[in-house]
Amino acid sequence: MTTSLVTGGSGFIGSHLVESLLERGDHVIVVDDLSTGNLANITGFRDHPKLEWIEGTIENKELVTQVVDRADEVYHLAAAVGVALIAKQPIQTIERNIYPTQLILNRLGERVKEGDKVRCFIASTSEVYGKNPKPTWSEEDDLVFGSTTKPRWSYGASKAIDEFLALAFHRQHNLNVVVGRFFNVVGPRQTGAYGMVLPRFVEAAVAGRPITVHDDGKQTRCFAHVHDVRRAILDLVATDACMGRVFNIGSDQPISILELAQRVQERVNPDCGITFQSYADAYDNSFEDIRRRVPDLTRIQEAIGYKRDYDLNAIIDAVAAYKRAEA
Ligand SMILES: NC(=O)c1ccc[n+]([C@@H]2O[C@H](COP(=O)([O-])OP(=O)(O)OC[C@H]3O[C@@H](n4cnc5c(N)ncnc54)[C@H](O)[C@@H]3O)[C@@H](O)[C@H]2O)c1
Repeated sequence: MTTSLVTGGSGFIGSHLVESLLERGDHVIVVDDLSTGNLANITGFRDHPKLEWIEGTIENKELVTQVVDRADEVYHLAAAVGVALIAKQPIQTIERNIYPTQLILNRLGERVKEGDKVRCFIASTSEVYGKNPKPTWSEEDDLVFGSTTKPRWSYGASKAIDEFLALAFHRQHNLNVVVGRFFNVVGPRQTGAYGMVLPRFVEAAVAGRPITVHDDGKQTRCFAHVHDVRRAILDLVATDACMGRVFNIGSDQPISILELAQRVQERVNPDCGITFQSYADAYDNSFEDIRRRVPDLTRIQEAIGYKRDYDLNAIIDAVAAYKRAEA
């Protein structure tokens, strides 16, 4: 039986991944400190006999050693996440996103030296491309960050360090590790509390409040359902040829944020209004946004035959059903 470790397994993406691993028959160890995660995310399978849930932080070296040593596969998803959280807590973002990744990779490196075959997935983000002006981003493109005086870039930069580390462990220690750069993953269980746009919009519409669009709403994003993304994660880890490589994961169908608000209004609550808020009011004067964010998915399509089952309407309906049940 495969033992899989999921860090951040009570978070949004992590909880969906844990569910798939349990369905696959794995013994699953979850370590989560519930900083942004929620026990409600795992209520459906909390008592599963093969789930071992540990409340703790992966900043704890002893705990990391204990759990990594028992795993055949490691899915490292725990991190400080969300533009709003990062704007408020830049020190924590950097600490949470770099040190634990190093602890996990160090321990995995030791295990490889001992002859163990273990695989690892590292969750990264489209934020590593920074404000690269290209219309679509492919994995070999440059990382173009803004000034260090603007805290929002610390999230992408910290995840870029994680990627450098992972790839170095692959090169120097033959560690089987694959990096996935997520582009706006959405779906049931995602909270709007840390600035994620789709759950914020749907929560407002369900509650009958106006949907708040930042800036002029002409910035574009691509949204992928978490079920499509978790299948991609499992396929990447299962494929030898993906080891030591970086992959974009998400949707490549852009929509402007204003159009997204209108679509949510149309499908969830035609009576809720739409209002606008400047970035300065939403965050602070230092905030700099990315106008367009579209992945090139050629690499992941060629590697694992990646395709999506959910379009945007299906995603909005699924999120709305979840938020209505939650309300
Ligand atoms: N959702 C997206 O669109 C998106 C986009 C890009 C990257 N990502 C990445 O995907 C991963 C999962 O994100 P998510 O959207 O599910 O967010 P999330 O906040 O729901 O999940 C993160 C989980 O990690 C836990 N955690 C954080 N620090 C921890 C620590 N030190 N020890 C133990 N647990 C800790 C949190 O409690 C939470 O359960 C993150 O690495 C994030 O950077 C997500």
